[in-house]
Amino acid sequence: MRHLLRDDDLSPAEQAELLALAARLKADPFGHKPLAGPRTVAMIFDKPTLRTQASFAAGIAELGGNPLHVNGDLAQIGVRESIEDVARVLGRQAAQIVWRTNDQARLDTMAQWAGVPVINALSDDFHPCQLLADLLTVTERKGHLAGLTAVFIGDGACNMGNSWLLAGATAGMHVVVSSPEGYQPAAGIVERAATIGQSTGGTARVEADLARAVAGADVVITDTWISMGKEAESSARLEALQPYALTGEVMAMAAPDAIAMHCLPAYRGKEITAELIDGPDSVVWDEAENRRHAQKAVMAWLQEQAGAAR
Ligand code: NVA
Repeated sequence: MRHLLRDDDLSPAEQAELLALAARLKADPFGHKPLAGPRTVAMIFDKPTLRTQASFAAGIAELGGNPLHVNGDLAQIGVRESIEDVARVLGRQAAQIVWRTNDQARLDTMAQWAGVPVINALSDDFHPCQLLADLLTVTERKGHLAGLTAVFIGDGACNMGNSWLLAGATAGMHVVVSSPEGYQPAAGIVERAATIGQSTGGTARVEADLARAVAGADVVITDTWISMGKEAESSARLEALQPYALTGEVMAMAAPDAIAMHCLPAYRGKEITAELIDGPDSVVWDEAENRRHAQKAVMAWLQEQAGAAR
């Protein structure tokens, strides 16, 4: 049973296949109905959501399926009943399970017991659906991925930093994370990305010096400095990460045709300036739209992998 729990669950060939499928589904949004029946896809959110809930619900409907919202606060997974029991119950109702939660291990347990494909709709550690949407967006703008340099600046230890390292290296990109001490990705993630890069031509590294990191970049990415669950650290984070704000001056150090990316929600005047996110270099609205197309590709592909048995 295949799942999408982290970015490196996909081989380079599979990632390319999914991105090509996403582009085809974008061009013909209503012509592909692998969830016809309709088959139900359960969506559970243990953390706040806007884009993910909207794009999955719309995408499931476009694939001919039935989006089922399971209220994470009511289900209290792991409190009211175990993840194992929830997995076995939902696996009897739904063809796939989409889950946004905190610990990656919770997703692993769900995948182990559900009997149907499980999709990580953001965890503390990874955001693989966003990365497929982002790589689709970069492909649309640049025509290719391999060989491009993508620089993630800010809180490099968050889910988006980790996912850019793994997914970017899988795509053969040169991924650089520029963050201060204490906000850099775990060495194991950088090493994993570098290992993936050995077969794709990609590379992965941390460069604390922002000017050196961004010089010549094709893609510059940032994310909120206060990820969901980190609210208690707000003041320390704002102070430590302020020098890593994505501004017009930072973009001026990148390649002349560089694009600025942000998965949203964005905090203008904090991690990114209003001029930049609302300006011509920004592709954030394409990223948001592409969530639907990328996730449709993931669900269609997983349904095919599962043999469309349900
Ligand atoms: N790093 C952010 C991403 C939001 C989509 C968070 O986890 O809150």
